[in-house]
Amino acid sequence: MTTIVQLTDLHLRPRGTPALRVVETNMFAARAIRAVATLTSRPDAVIVTGDVADTADPRAYELAHELLAALPVPVYLLAGNHDSARTMRSAFADWPGVSEAPSDRVHYAAEIGDLRLVALDTSVEGQPYGSLGNEQLAWLDATLAAAPDRPTLIAMHHPPFTTGIAHMDRTRLTDSDAFAEIVSAHRQVRRIVCGHVHRTVVAPFGGTHAMIVPGVAHQVALDLTATSAAQFVMEPPAYGIHAWTGEDLVSHVAYVEAFPGPYPFSPAEGVFWPGD
Ligand SMILES: [Fe+2]
Ligand SMILES: [Fe+2]
Repeated sequence: MTTIVQLTDLHLRPRGTPALRVVETNMFAARAIRAVATLTSRPDAVIVTGDVADTADPRAYELAHELLAALPVPVYLLAGNHDSARTMRSAFADWPGVSEAPSDRVHYAAEIGDLRLVALDTSVEGQPYGSLGNEQLAWLDATLAAAPDRPTLIAMHHPPFTTGIAHMDRTRLTDSDAFAEIVSAHRQVRRIVCGHVHRTVVAPFGGTHAMIVPGVAHQVALDLTATSAAQFVMEPPAYGIHAWTGEDLVSHVAYVEAFPGPYPFSPAEGVFWPGD
């Protein structure tokens, strides 16, 4: 089995400065990275789907470099609206994937076990919304056409679909129609995975499924009213695990925090409660 862990929306800051007044994003990112580093089933790679930094401060990328280097597997990064693709490109010039990206946008393809990862750059410098642009769309079409038989996972920051959370939908991907046309022409695309919305959302897209994975720190409040206010909640931090089973790509959401258990289903197989 080939597995790719997806961490998203780290929102790292210069040390000692919380995000959104109260969210200790540096601590949350460190906890998520530690949880992945100690997984019993080691993934083949980790992808970080944008908003790596909260304000594109070079010190946040230095910290990202330091924290992510603790992972014992290759780590692939892409840019979100809080990032600067150009700054990331130079801060991670020695990292896989990023080093092959054009200097102004961070998009590339990588082979990971039985899977092909195509990382896209939806960031638009200084803007909250996302866009791929014609040049990158043409690159995507040619890149997918080059390997029609490789099961492919597309990773990007901004979701290409409407979530129903109105204030977040205003900053979704703008050129999703052109993107859908390309995805639907390449049947090997098994999933599109995104961040940005800081919670789990799944929708059909371009003949496959697109999925948003929760952030590793704060989450966006679940409010499906048309007048939803931009609010965050401290729901449990989580991350994605995308696994190629040999038949298809399945996606799991896993929590960063440890919970009681695991316990055997059958008492005959061992103790049911600690201390029994
Ligand atoms: Fe974010
Ligand atoms: Fe974002």
